[in-house]
Amino acid sequence: RLDNRIYSNLLLYSSSYYYSKMLMICIAGGTASGKTTVCEEIIKRLENKRISVICLDSFYRPLTHDELTTVASYNFDHPSAFDWDYATRAIKELKSGNHFNIPTYCFKTHNRLEETTPIADIDVIIFEGILSLYTQEIRDQMDIKIFVDTDSDTRLSRRVLRDIAERGRNLEGVLYQYEKFVKPSFDEYILPTKKYADVIIPRGADNVVAIDLIVRHIRSKLQDKDNNMKPNSVGNH
Ligand code: ADP
Ligand code: C5P
Repeated sequence: RLDNRIYSNLLLYSSSYYYSKMLMICIAGGTASGKTTVCEEIIKRLENKRISVICLDSFYRPLTHDELTTVASYNFDHPSAFDWDYATRAIKELKSGNHFNIPTYCFKTHNRLEETTPIADIDVIIFEGILSLYTQEIRDQMDIKIFVDTDSDTRLSRRVLRDIAERGRNLEGVLYQYEKFVKPSFDEYILPTKKYADVIIPRGADNVVAIDLIVRHIRSKLQDKDNNMKPNSVGNH
């Protein structure tokens, strides 16, 4: 019985060791707070590492025909707009070292496209999105949890410019959506997830000091994992 127990503990230990081979980072924050830009800055500084960014946006539910005809009254900032089962499956599979095909979302048609992006053999995964800290099941998979905290006026002005330039919107539509859905949902669902963050980055990508500290932390975590993988190293399982 003792042997069995030791064996099952070893199995547990080795599976949790395997489980944590890759580093998983979550970046949440309001719309246009600079989540994507912070990801780019982190990637720039970790150029020799295999890093993938996964966007929660990829897991938006495709709209039904009826929803599409009344799209102006659809709340894309409510948690129910996302396919959480699909997103959770992706995060868990990748954390376990398995490969996963990430869906592609189109902000112009509000639907999923045919193509997917295969992700495998990665050192660091960054999962970014407005509600990426929303569910406990996903939070539990994360090694580092970050919230990008940018002033709401700055976010609105960036959103207006971006949505008109890149997402096929007009000024009236962006402002109407912001006031009716984006701002109330930010206050009700997104801002409360800030308490789950390990690190809060004020001013987003402008905050070079915060980004440098985070990158240092990522490097040291990856180094720890490398050391643990070397045979006969101290702390090796
Ligand atoms: P999010 O991913 O949080 O929606 P993005 O990083 O895509 O935000 O930024 C939204 C818009 O604001 C983009 O057009 C981006 O180029 C711009 N932006 C982001 N950070 C800054 C910054 N520090 N200074 C100026 N513009 C920025
Ligand atoms: O990139 P960002 O974090 O801003 O993306 C999330 C935002 O995209 C949400 O605030 C939501 O209002 C918007 N969105 C949209 N149309 C869609 C899907 C999301 O305007 N079809």
